[in-house]
Amino acid sequence: MTDADDGKTTPAKPPARDPRDLPDVSRLVVGVLGGTGDQGRGLAYRLGRAGQRVIIGSRAAERAESAAAELGHGVEGADNAECARRSDIVIVAVPWEGHAELLESLREDLAGKLVVDCVNPLGFDKKGAYPLSVPEGSAAEQAAALLPDSRVTAAFHHLSAPLLQNPDVEEIDIDVMVLGEVRADTDIVQALAGRIAGMRGIFAGRLRNAHQVESLVANLISINRRYKAHAGLRVTDV
Ligand SMILES: NC(=O)c1ccc[n+]([C@@H]2O[C@H](COP(=O)([O-])OP(=O)(O)OC[C@H]3O[C@@H](n4cnc5c(N)ncnc54)[C@H](OP(=O)(O)O)[C@@H]3O)[C@@H](O)[C@H]2O)c1
Repeated sequence: MTDADDGKTTPAKPPARDPRDLPDVSRLVVGVLGGTGDQGRGLAYRLGRAGQRVIIGSRAAERAESAAAELGHGVEGADNAECARRSDIVIVAVPWEGHAELLESLREDLAGKLVVDCVNPLGFDKKGAYPLSVPEGSAAEQAAALLPDSRVTAAFHHLSAPLLQNPDVEEIDIDVMVLGEVRADTDIVQALAGRIAGMRGIFAGRLRNAHQVESLVANLISINRRYKAHAGLRVTDV
């Protein structure tokens, strides 16, 4: 029996949303924890250059302020807690060794914030880089476990800090894999990646798949060493 037969009508399905339609994030404030380091400076520089309001964080406010002054483009500096409180989106760009301790200490400051983890838990020995085993599965899942009141996503793992920081590089030729549990949040992070010239944000799954994305950096480091390159990745057919 069809719907027509029993007189019932099935409500029309809304048309599938194009995953390339992303929100306007140009007015959101972006904080970068550990923003005095290479990755944080690079992201802050690129986002500031794109017109985003950016605050870099540090364990010492003066270090953040002087790094921000060097970056220009209106980038501000603050201690990590103030950076978290004043931002809508907070990128975590500290070394794996300090990840858990810093996030635990900022749990309240990060409540309600959209957190973007870009930390790659890697070890290095004479054979090169290799992924570390993380009890929670990945750095991003560790962040989600430590920050129950934040919206945790993962992105920006595969970037080259030297390219990001080089003012002569006009475009960053890369797709940024974005992972998370809530589509509205991953859409925002994809849109943020898309603010940087040349970059595109691509949804790449739930946080349980962050381990592979973080680990892939070990392969990129091997590629960079062999070819003396700053390798990036593109996802085809999307
Ligand atoms: N470098 C890259 O190309 C790249 C690319 C993609 C992803 N990443 C990821 O981004 C993260 C940062 O990389 P990076 O190369 O920028 O590292 P980094 O320069 O060694 O450290 C970044 C900043 O973190 C702060 N920090 C250092 N130790 C800390 C600790 N124990 N607790 C809290 N804060 C600490 C320092 O800032 P203050 O002393 O001012 O607090 C430092 O300037 C890493 O997890 C890495 O896997 C890096």
